[in-house]
Amino acid sequence: MWAASRELRGSVFKSATASAGFCGCPLSVLFQNHTINNVTSRRHHGKPLPAAIRDHRRFKAARASAEVGTVPREEVLTSDPYNNVTENIFSKIGANLHLRPDHPLCILKEAIYTYFDDVQPGLWRKFDDLKPVVTTKANFDEVLVPADHVSRSPNDTYYIDTDTVLRCHTSAHQTELLRQGEAAFLVTGDVYRRDSIDQSHYPVFHQMEALRVYKPEAWEDAGVEGTQHMVTKLKTALEGMAKHLFGDVECRWVDAYFPFTDPSFELEIYFNGEWLEVLGCGVVEQQILDKNGWSGHKAWAFGLGLERLAMIKFAINDIRLFWSSDKRFTQQFKSGDLNTQFKPYSKFPPCFKDVSFWLPSDGFTENNLCEVVRDQAGDLVESVTLVDAFTHPKTGKTSNCFRIAYRSMDRSLTDEEINGLQDGVRTSLSDKLLVELR
Ligand code: PHE
Repeated sequence: MWAASRELRGSVFKSATASAGFCGCPLSVLFQNHTINNVTSRRHHGKPLPAAIRDHRRFKAARASAEVGTVPREEVLTSDPYNNVTENIFSKIGANLHLRPDHPLCILKEAIYTYFDDVQPGLWRKFDDLKPVVTTKANFDEVLVPADHVSRSPNDTYYIDTDTVLRCHTSAHQTELLRQGEAAFLVTGDVYRRDSIDQSHYPVFHQMEALRVYKPEAWEDAGVEGTQHMVTKLKTALEGMAKHLFGDVECRWVDAYFPFTDPSFELEIYFNGEWLEVLGCGVVEQQILDKNGWSGHKAWAFGLGLERLAMIKFAINDIRLFWSSDKRFTQQFKSGDLNTQFKPYSKFPPCFKDVSFWLPSDGFTENNLCEVVRDQAGDLVESVTLVDAFTHPKTGKTSNCFRIAYRSMDRSLTDEEINGLQDGVRTSLSDKLLVELR
């Protein structure tokens, strides 16, 4: 959907094959490889983070406060050679934006709860405090993500060790909840994906998942085939939800692919003059139900990205704002009020800095670059864009030039500050990613 513009997050799981990429978006084309000067700007080398970045991360970790988040530091920032979690990412764990009543993500979560509770009072069980540290089994295997699927790459997912990740989607909780006997549940939580940097991509975002199981009587009584019955049920439920959130919008269904559902769809709504993807969904793969205590039953499920919907609904123009504690942002939203239109309180000019370098022979990825930039500049970086790339005809070496836009949401940045950040980025790039600066 937002293929061309990479607008907001598309689904990494939408694609059956590794080559289509994983930009980490709930719902939609995860990542479109975009080309600039005929060079594909994203690469999926599937390699663990270079050792130098990990060392750097550990060094920084030692300086940070011990009580960030609800998951102990030692559990996340381990010395495992496969670990690619950074200090910056660790600092987001436990922020739980979706649990803060006046936060736009929580307002949206509550509005979706209200919709489902109105339609089926007492049916839906809600889970919004499940731990984001999950096994690869739960995150991938049990929801049938193929062994070679790009979403498993450490270039795209944060690994704690080879068997443990920061969940990259709330579908990671489907099977445990099914095994616990849950038959209708909503799961909300923070999810983590290594990604590039722009105003709609952030390495931590929030998803809501729903799954509803039906007994055979449901479709037998209706006199229809089971899967078809699920499709009808899910379309009715989700169009109703879209209208509850966005008013009487036109809806359309687009065929999709997810490893855990078949058939799979995306729901799009016509809103403010354009078709926008709202969620991914489908009829749950029968073997997921059969293996987790619900054989003979059928189910539908959906997953949606709360930031994406909140940005559309509340007219929030930069994904970093969700993390802002500036009162000029936080005080614009009130629990229960779905009609707020965010008024930007300031727009400071961005400052652009280019960095050019020769790529090392192996292992460079744009996601690794973005990790280095975020580690240096945090939320002061607004976007990182490949603006030039060429391969030297004689040496065969490839040069890239990336443009980094620095901009604070809350204040103006001084030249000195920006130069300091850029120097730090340059040093880290050569020290950690082993690029040759030009
Ligand atoms: N987990 C999918 C994603 O992150 C969304 C999804 C959930 C799709 C449930 C279908 C069913 O993109």
